[in-house]
Amino acid sequence: MDKPYIAAARTDAIAPGKFVKVVVEERAYLIANLDGRYYACEDKCSHEDYPLSYGCLDGDRIKCSLHGSRFSLLTGAPMDEPADTPIHTYRCQDADGWVWIDPSAPAN
Ligand code: FES
Repeated sequence: MDKPYIAAARTDAIAPGKFVKVVVEERAYLIANLDGRYYACEDKCSHEDYPLSYGCLDGDRIKCSLHGSRFSLLTGAPMDEPADTPIHTYRCQDADGWVWIDPSAPAN
């Protein structure tokens, strides 16, 4: 995988319907496995900067455990109040047993 992609997590470490928190170049991300496809987002709620990794998956959404806002892992869009600002999502590919993310620029 060419730059700017970086190997962030082993694919076998993320079961379908689960996510992991990873730190790449001093930034925290979530990588989720949704039916064999991987999605990456920042590990920070746009409402009060709370770690989204304390939350849980709800289908293709990550739910913040502090006030309950859910965000689409596909687009970063907030689905519930109180959050009204999208989170950043990142391009993500799987190859050679790894999930690779492009931390150079948010996909949204
Ligand atoms: S900090 Fe996440 S919804 Fe408030």
